[in-house]
Order: sequence, then structure tokens, then C-alpha cells
Amino acid sequence: MKTVYLETFGCQMNELDSELVRGHLESLGYRFAAEPDHADVLLFNTCSVREHAESKAYSRVGIVGKRKKAGEKLILGVLGCMAERDGVDMLRRYPQIDLLCGPGELDKLPMLIDNVVRTTAVNPPLANNIEDRVALAGNTSRRSAALSASADDLETLDLARAFDPDRATSGVRSAYVRITRGCNKFCTYCVVPYTRGAEVHRPPDSIVEECRRLAASGVIEVTLLGQTVNHYRYTHGVAVTLDGREQPQIGPGLSAFRNETIEDPNLTTFAKLLARIHDEVPELARIRFLTSYPKDFGDDVLQVMATRPRICRYLHVPVQSGSNRILKLMNRGYTVEEYLEFTDRVLEILPDASIAGDIIVGFPTETDEDFEMTKDLLRRVPFKNNFIFKYSPRPGTTAITRFEDDVPLEVKKLRNNELLVLQAEIGAAVHANWVGREVDVLVERLTNRTPVASSAPSVADPRITLGSRLTPKKTPHEDAAENAVQVSGRTPGDLITVFQVPTREQAQQLLGTIVRVRIEGSGPLILHGRMVDLTAALPNEIHP
Ligand code: SAH
Ligand code: SF4
Ligand code: F3S
Repeated sequence: MKTVYLETFGCQMNELDSELVRGHLESLGYRFAAEPDHADVLLFNTCSVREHAESKAYSRVGIVGKRKKAGEKLILGVLGCMAERDGVDMLRRYPQIDLLCGPGELDKLPMLIDNVVRTTAVNPPLANNIEDRVALAGNTSRRSAALSASADDLETLDLARAFDPDRATSGVRSAYVRITRGCNKFCTYCVVPYTRGAEVHRPPDSIVEECRRLAASGVIEVTLLGQTVNHYRYTHGVAVTLDGREQPQIGPGLSAFRNETIEDPNLTTFAKLLARIHDEVPELARIRFLTSYPKDFGDDVLQVMATRPRICRYLHVPVQSGSNRILKLMNRGYTVEEYLEFTDRVLEILPDASIAGDIIVGFPTETDEDFEMTKDLLRRVPFKNNFIFKYSPRPGTTAITRFEDDVPLEVKKLRNNELLVLQAEIGAAVHANWVGREVDVLVERLTNRTPVASSAPSVADPRITLGSRLTPKKTPHEDAAENAVQVSGRTPGDLITVFQVPTREQAQQLLGTIVRVRIEGSGPLILHGRMVDLTAALPNEIHP
């Protein structure tokens, strides 16, 4: 049997897809290697969202091309959004690529690999038809693709998810769960509606069942995934198979959110879904969700969050720009005022919520004034962090055909850097607010760095730099605590927290558990503190 190397680029959705693909291939007998050199099937699960993401993947494709030219017998597959966006043209330009599989067709991947294996096993290789090694949603129109979702093959990939019985012992106790695929929003700059197709919502019973099974295999944190999770919507009684099982369902138009009666018993809204998962899967210590859309985020969701302690008070809710003119060109569908109304409402109902987002700088026609407005918006909202992107024109989107990419790269870079500095100040203030308080931290990793001194580094501390973690620097204090190990994890509000544990063995034991930490210092992107009580925090006592 072949050995596979699978590398993932792009968003959480892709990380989840890769996990599902891996589970599927493993169940068929494939083994996985951690290094590309130890595998004979190389799979890249790619992202198309910005040009930079694509060039990274292409450079990997180039390396494989050289190995194949040198005579190595390898199979190279490009999966995910790039495959879907570029289509078969990619095969002509990169003959080293053997197969293409779009994100909506991943259930067909084993068949594609099989086809390529069979045709290349003989010398000279048999000619294989393009359709035998390519699975893309491609030409199917969005509408028919969406309709055929009711007889959904891809759903089987989610349903067939492997539940790793070693999760609890390996310390990896966090998992993604898809609630919605695709996107109907068509922001003018974005490829996602083209690569992932129309919005399709999974039946709530499948989602709850998946959460339950993950919890049974040791997961304590789930992150629900969708491009705009608050647009999750499932109408019962319309898409049921003969055996009574509900099927995935196409998302409604945006108008559905205008006059809707959320009390409708036949409707599972995002709020109801959250409540169900919280109430029906009590083993989950943390329930998160990504990404929220600033519009149509009702108080019903905020109320569910306010009344259900295991739903994390964390919102990733990208604003993209602080200029109404640019938001309009982006087709985001809200104004700055509406965004602020929303974040104010969040902080009123959930005062300790943390808010993060994304910003695009240098969108076509963005002036200095527009950019100043984005800065004003940043100053107005206590963002714990913002991912800042330089506008990247994407083939196939409305923006690339409608607007010239007229903001020079130099200006984009300057605006990007300016926002990073501003965001660092805001992030520092948000994090500093937690100093002196106690937080629950889900421990994720040993940082493999020399622990920092216990005196709290300040924002001005040279060891804490923009966009970085901690830069090690030995102090006499650390020499004294030579065996101590630094671990990091996250609070319910997704604030990265580091603290020391006396020994490596204890640190290993804490992986995947939640411990109480008293916060003693902070930086723009980080909290650090001291574990409140090591004995109380050891795994067995926490999870009897
Ligand atoms: N569904 C999410 C975002 C998914 S893409 C949402 O609507 O918020 C993740 C981020 O990439 C976006 O929020 C946006 O900031 C950025 N992005 C998307 N397309 C881009 C482009 N063409 N150029 C630069 N950044 C882009
Ligand atoms: Fe892209 Fe907009 Fe959909 Fe987000 S909401 S995935 S930015 S089209
Ligand atoms: Fe990239 Fe596709 Fe995700 S374009 S951001 S991998 S949905």
C-alpha cells in the first residue's frame, strides 16, 4: 500500500478537510508519513484566497516536479480551493500533477488515487483520461450544484469521520466540526463562493451526533466551522430520505433573515444549534465557532452565549474596512455604523467577550481618508487581534473585473504596517485588562523555549515584538528554575496564555486539560501568568 504525505494550506476549513481525507484514506489502508521524502503519494490541500497562498503551494509543486524529473516514482495530487479555481488548466501547466480534487469532491479522492496508481503501475504508463484523475465541481452551475447537495456525497465524508480513541492520551483534545459548507455572500474580492460553492447547511442531528462522538473519543473543545456561521439555518421536514434521515440543505437567500420568525419550531437557527450542542453534549468544556458575519447576528445568539457557560465568549467577526464607501465596493452588506452597533451590543450583553477580525488594506480606490477611517474603527473597538491582509486581486472575482488594482504595493505595505502597529497597541490594552485576574487555560503545547522571567514583560519589552511570540533571553532567575518548562494554551476568549510548569513530565500531563492561571503580565498578543494550583490541576483530578 502507498504511503501518503498530506500538507495543508489555508483556513480551518482546509485543516478539517485534511483530517477527514486522512481518516478516509487510513481506513482504506494508506499509511501517512510526516515528511514528503518518506512518501510516494504527495497531496497538497491548497488555498486560493490570496496570491501568496497559491505561490507557496506552487513552489511545493515545483519541488515535486524536480524529484519526478530525477526519476522518483511519485504521485502528486492538488486538492482544495486552488484545484477548483484553476481547474484542468493546471494539469497542462504543471505536468507533474497527476490528480486534481476540489474541496466539494474530496469523497472521490481515493478513487482518483486508485486510477492514477493503476495506470502508472505499468511501464510505459497507460494513458489515463483526464476525467479519471480530476474531480471538480467546476462546470456544474451553482444552482444545480446546490440542488444536488440534497443527495450529498460529500456529507458522507463528514459522517464517516474517524474518532481517534487516542485523542485523550495524545493531548489533542480540540476538534473542528463543520456546520455549513460554501458561501453565498459574494464579497467582491473573494474566491470562496467560487471554490467552495453555494452555502449548504448540515442537519442539526448530524452535527450534534458528531459532537457527541468526538466528546466520547476525548475531545473537550469543538470549533464549529462555517464561512458565516450565524447564517446557519436548517428547516426541518423538507429534505428527508426514505429512512427518515435529514439531508444537508441549501442556504436561504439573505432576505430570509429579514422577516424571519425565529420561534418557528421547524427552524433550527444558529442560536438553537448552539444551545442544542451545549445542552446535549455536556462533556464539551468549550464550544467555539468561526467565522461570524457582522450582519444578521441576532440577540438570540448572544442570549444563548450569555446563559450557557461552556460557549466561549469569543467572536471572530471580520470588518474588512472602516470606510462605508469601500465596504459598499466590497459588497459586504453593512455599514461601519451597523458594525459598531453590533460590537457594542456584544459587549453590552457579554462584557468579557473578546473580539477579533480581519482587515483588507489597499482595496481598489482606497484613499488615505478611507484608510484613516479604518484606523478610527480600530480605535473604537477593543479588538484582541486583527489579521491584516493586503488586497490581492483574484481571478474570477467581481473585483478583479470591475476595479483596477490601483493602490501601489508600497502603499499597501505601509498601510499594513501602520495597522499592525495600531493593532498591537489595541491588543496590548485588551490583554493588559486581564492582568490580576484568573483565567481557565486549555493547555495546547510545550513552547520549547526557555521560560521567560517571572517579572511581567511590558509592551515595551524588547522580547515581545510585533506579531511574534516570546523571544528567549536567559536571566539568572531562569537558571535557578532550570527544569521548568513553558507551556501555552488559550483562554475561553482565545487569548494565548503562557505559564511555567515545574517539570517536563508535569507539562506533558497537562496537555489537553484546562488549568487555572493567574495572569501576571501581558503583551500585544499574549498573556502570561502562574498556575494557581498544580496539584488541583493534574488531569485525573480535573477529569475524574
Ligand atoms: N468568511 C470569512 C472570511 C474568509 S477568507 C468572512 O467573511 O469574514 C479570510 C479573510 O481573507 C477575509 O476575511 C479577508 O480579510 C481575506 N481575504 C479574502 N480575499 C482576499 C483578497 N482577495 N485579498 C486580500 N485578502 C483577502
Ligand atoms: Fe468570502 Fe465574503 Fe463569503 Fe467571507 S463572506 S467567504 S469574505 S465571500
Ligand atoms: Fe483558502 Fe479555500 Fe479556505 S480559498 S481560505 S482554503 S475556503
